[in-house]
Amino acid sequence: MEFKEKINLEKLPKHIAIIMDGNGRWAKQQGEQRIFGHENGVKSVREAVEACAELGVKYLTLYAFSTENWNRPQEEVIALMQLLVHTISAETKTLNENKIRLQAIGDLKSLPDDCYHELQEAIENTKNNTRTTLVLALSYSSRWEITNAVKQIAEQIENKKLAASEITEEIINANLCTADMPEPELMIRTSGEHRISNFLLWQLAYSELYFTDKLWPDFRKNDLYEAIVDYQNRERRFGKTSEQLIS
Ligand code: IPE
Ligand code: IPE
Ligand code: MG
Repeated sequence: MEFKEKINLEKLPKHIAIIMDGNGRWAKQQGEQRIFGHENGVKSVREAVEACAELGVKYLTLYAFSTENWNRPQEEVIALMQLLVHTISAETKTLNENKIRLQAIGDLKSLPDDCYHELQEAIENTKNNTRTTLVLALSYSSRWEITNAVKQIAEQIENKKLAASEITEEIINANLCTADMPEPELMIRTSGEHRISNFLLWQLAYSELYFTDKLWPDFRKNDLYEAIVDYQNRERRFGKTSEQLIS
């Protein structure tokens, strides 16, 4: 079924976050090494980015590499980092053509030097684009991010720039990597796993969660449209009653 025409463009999510999962299993199904799955996942990234830009979704955050993923076999980590450097440098031109701004969240300094520099260059070269912001979560985990935020706030208190009694949700927000971004209304995870895996724990507080069995390399624009239609058919109550929302 085609889902694009079922989307209500007036009610688009401003921010979609995706846990791109299932590359390894996809490769195994083809009798290939795990990295073959990661390579094929790049096409799905392109499709998701293009679909968001075409529709007018303002932010797309992709979980590309978690803090815990550093614990994978070294050859997979190295191959993933190489794929990342290669993809970022190859795609910068297309990002600019499509007016897409690149940003990244996570412990970026822990990335290999070439990866870090390629990323910073692409961020700099696309910073004036305004159509859609693509956020890569790299060496990211939510507990790392929250720990970092707590440290920053503690330093502000130590330097007498802030009092403990002045800490608000807004201040915590402002110290997260996502400070300037709207919260994701929709979070998608592929590959049939029903968990968050240390992704945006604070920001997903009221997000609609959507799970699909599709493995990431098989994910196409129509799968994203389907998730958006599903999201648009839900009632977001934010703790209120259904009746309150109608009146
Ligand atoms: C997601 O696919 C990509 C990354 C975590 C980098 P996986 O590599 O986790 O694939 P599965 O879950 O093992 O199939
Ligand atoms: C989550 O996938 C991280 C990314 C997609 C980058 P994982 O495959 O690492 O998560 P778990 O281990 O299944 O929870
Ligand atoms: Mg996985």
